[in-house]
Amino acid sequence: MSRDKKLKTLVVRYTPRNERSNTGKILDAFVKEAGSSEIEELDLAKEVPDLFLEESLGAYIQRNYLGQELSAEQKASLSKMDRMTLQVKSADIVVVAYPMNNFSMPAPVKAWFDSVMLKGQTWDAKDGRYYGLMDGRKALAIVTSGGLYSGEMSAWEHALSLARLEFQFMGYSEIQGVLGGGMNMGEEIKSGVLRRSIEDVRKIARKWYGEMAESQTA
Ligand SMILES: Cc1cc2nc3c(=O)[nH]c(=O)nc-3n(C[C@H](O)[C@H](O)[C@H](O)COP(=O)(O)O)c2cc1C
Repeated sequence: MSRDKKLKTLVVRYTPRNERSNTGKILDAFVKEAGSSEIEELDLAKEVPDLFLEESLGAYIQRNYLGQELSAEQKASLSKMDRMTLQVKSADIVVVAYPMNNFSMPAPVKAWFDSVMLKGQTWDAKDGRYYGLMDGRKALAIVTSGGLYSGEMSAWEHALSLARLEFQFMGYSEIQGVLGGGMNMGEEIKSGVLRRSIEDVRKIARKWYGEMAESQTA
């Protein structure tokens, strides 16, 4: 990260309950600690990523695996994915925030990962080895769930664990996750989880933005 460059944080959110969203409350606490970082937001409840369908998948393979030129129509079929990929590549820190849906991430969030995990852009492969291209950057996933996923239930948890894997595959240098579980287990549990999750994200934000501010003034 260059000294003069202003830090950029990309906030990718899927919190369609808006003000009532507990995930959103935890995310807001993180963003409040972001200091002077430039914040860009992508709201996946308003802007749904494209999916790989017949034309777009064919175009992706042709361009990113075979190095072939695309027609104007083929380019158009990838344009939203390309835009989202450029956006995530422009950020020093990315924060994704969403509730657990059916033990995993909501479909728009998965579609966002599929949109930005493009070969030759955020990861690549050489001689049968895969490597990430996003080193030097940090990623945080904030997830809430109705139930608890500790102990025996941890095998059912694919909402946060999948995000960690995706960021790892893309080569992010630091990956943090906060899982606020138990949101539908009564008011007392919910308010305790909310409070602890907010403390956790504040701690991460103070560390990250503090460290980066120091490295920029050093
Ligand atoms: C469609 C849907 C699917 C859900 N699936 C799960 C689930 O698999 N496991 C779980 O623990 N909670 C599940 N929940 C509960 C939410 O994850 C939980 O209430 C979350 O905290 C809501 O976040 P929000 O307050 O940001 O909207 C589901 C909720 C919805 C609406």
